[in-house]
Amino acid sequence: MRIGIIGAGSMGSALARGLGEPAVVYDADGERAEALVAEVGGRVASSNSELAGQVDLVILCHKPAQLREVADDAAPATKAVASIAAGVRISELEAAYPGTPVYRFIPNLPVEVGRGVFCYAAGTRAAEGPEREVLQLFARSGVVIRLDEPLIEPAMALMSCGPAFIALVVGAMAGAGARHGLDAAQATRLVVETMAGTAAYLDANDLDPAELRRRVATPGGVTERGLQALEDGGVVQAFDAAVDLVVEATRR
Ligand SMILES: NC(=O)c1ccc[n+]([C@@H]2O[C@H](COP(=O)([O-])OP(=O)(O)OC[C@H]3O[C@@H](n4cnc5c(N)ncnc54)[C@H](OP(=O)(O)O)[C@@H]3O)[C@@H](O)[C@H]2O)c1
Repeated sequence: MRIGIIGAGSMGSALARGLGEPAVVYDADGERAEALVAEVGGRVASSNSELAGQVDLVILCHKPAQLREVADDAAPATKAVASIAAGVRISELEAAYPGTPVYRFIPNLPVEVGRGVFCYAAGTRAAEGPEREVLQLFARSGVVIRLDEPLIEPAMALMSCGPAFIALVVGAMAGAGARHGLDAAQATRLVVETMAGTAAYLDANDLDPAELRRRVATPGGVTERGLQALEDGGVVQAFDAAVDLVVEATRR
């Protein structure tokens, strides 16, 4: 499947690296498009419409506000469209690309290293186009989780904002260790490896997180007391507030 990437910014570039496929690229900033093509292979297009005419799948990696401007140019030549634009609904994509199969994805930054998560909602004409190939393509750089479109916003709060939320936890834990004399880089490595191992353990055992807590924290022991300190400090309410804020801000 020949792919075209519109918008070689941070997410478009991360996705292109994760897909590991040569691409036709267009960006309003030509140097950004050149730099991405130098990394992943392919070629720079002279316009969005030229790009659309050269590929089987146009991947929209521009900002949501640029939907109309880009579609006015690209839509007539577009055969199928996948969008990663965060707030742009399927109905808006289908209005901008009339008669074209539409696939709506939300990626997260770890797609760049092949460990991403994509939320996926199918457009009304998805089955008329190359849906299976599109899903196989995206699955190269992350797990694809199919959702009803109204659930995209709470899912986004977890998996798209999630890397930033988790990075805050890493920094806080490592900082606490460094205050007790650990080297800062070593402290960060301890937390990152613990996080990766915990994720692998949860996944391998298909484990409820509460059960993992029980396995680590013996009653009355230091882990249990540490968990209580975190709860008393409002960690659970703080995550609730962050997710509520993202959902409210992204649902229109
Ligand atoms: N960053 C994330 O973690 C994340 C997660 C999920 C979804 N997304 C979605 O990914 C999309 C891109 O986000 P980003 O963070 O990568 O933004 P970004 O770095 O600003 O990238 C957007 C790129 O599109 C270019 N562009 C502007 N107008 C264009 C046009 N008419 N034709 C082609 N390219 C054009 C921009 O150039 P100029 O800078 O010159 O305008 C910029 O290089 C957004 O829709 C966002 O909602 C991002």
